[in-house]
This record gives sequence, C-alpha cells and structure tokens, in this order.
Amino acid sequence: MSNENIVWHAHNVDKPSRAEHKQQKPCLLWFTGLSGSGKSTIAGALEQKLFAMGHHTYLLDGDNVRHGLNKDLGFSDRDRVENIRRIGEASKLFVDAGLIVLSAFISPFRADRQMVRGLLEQSEFIEVFMDTPLDECERRDPKGLYKKARSGEIRNFTGIDSVYERPEDAEISVNTATHTVDECVEQIVGYLKQHQIITKG
Ligand code: ADX
Repeated sequence: MSNENIVWHAHNVDKPSRAEHKQQKPCLLWFTGLSGSGKSTIAGALEQKLFAMGHHTYLLDGDNVRHGLNKDLGFSDRDRVENIRRIGEASKLFVDAGLIVLSAFISPFRADRQMVRGLLEQSEFIEVFMDTPLDECERRDPKGLYKKARSGEIRNFTGIDSVYERPEDAEISVNTATHTVDECVEQIVGYLKQHQIITKG
C-alpha cells in the first residue's frame, strides 16, 4: 500500500516531555527465549519492582497479545514474523508514551529482533536473553506444551521442530536455572541504574 499522501504530524507533547514528566528514560526491555525459559515470570516480577519504585511501565506478553491484537496469527514462520512486527510497532508507541516497556515473546528469529531494535533509538532497545537450557524448559513444561510437541500433537514448536536463534550480543543474559527470580530481577535493575534509565530507588 502506498503512503505517499500520508504526512507524519509532529505533536507538541513529545517523548522528551513525557519522559521528564515521568522522571525516567523510556526504553524497551525485549525478553527473548524459549517457551518456559521464564520470560513472563521475570518480566512480571521486574514490572512489579519498578512499579513499587514509582516508575511507569507496561508489560506486553506473548500469550496475552495472541488473545487480542494478534489473535489471527499462528506459529508458522510467516505468522511469527508478523507477530513480532506488530509487537515491535506497539512497543515503540508505548516507548513514545514515555514508558519503560517490557515485551516478553519467544521472538525466535534474530532478524526480527534486529528489526525491532532498528525501530528505536540506539540506547532504547535492551535485549534480555533468557538463557535457560532447553532441557530445563522442557523439564518445567508449565503448560504441558513440550509433551504435546514431542508426541506430535503440536507442530512447529520452538526448540523441538522450529528453530530458536540465540542472541549474539544481548545487552543482558539471564539464567533462571542457576539464579532465583529475585536475583534475576536485581541483575536487570542493576543494568537500568548503571545506564541511568532509572535513577530513583
Ligand atoms: S513467537 O514465536 O511468535 O514470538 P509468542 O511469544 O508470541 O511466540 O507465543 C509463544 C507462546 O505461545 C508460548 O509460550 C506457548 O504458550 C504458546 N504456543 C503455542 N503453540 C506454540 C508453538 N508451536 N511454538 C511456540 N509457542 C507456542
């Protein structure tokens, strides 16, 4: 579709003014990792911590977004690409709103994560790799989906018969097999303070 007759309108209340109002540096924490690697758990606990510290946040979560905005998408490669494209654009809007955005999606393809990175300013995109080994994710199997994938009841399951491309230079790597939820949260909060994304607390 052509966009030639659509002109971008710059509004007066902009990202810097919203950020100043909220006393934080807006950013996107992009959680990537296998199903069962702890993305939702750590992102949820981190959001709770940031909220308690007085920050303004928003959490976008794979299973939830697939109930609404992306309910027309499945798990073919093509649908996963579109899933991440839409979430990338939605995340960008929330960053523009001045929020600290936490997005938790398998996002198995490096090129798609790179595409989202490219939508944002350089220091705004923070890739958080949930570096939890496949055998640990499969042992946890919180939704019983690995079992179904192994028996062939579900196809295209990430890590089983669909690829997961590990990040090569994620800003943060978290191992939930060797660290507690609190330790993982502290690791990420430490990064945010070190990079002056948050200064309270
Ligand atoms: S992504 O690959 O497109 O980024 P997303 O994070 O939105 O995936 O959704 C993953 C969630 O969908 C998993 O946590 C799991 O609960 C569910 N799911 C259902 N079928 C599959 C499948 N074939 N592969 C991966 N996850 C699946």
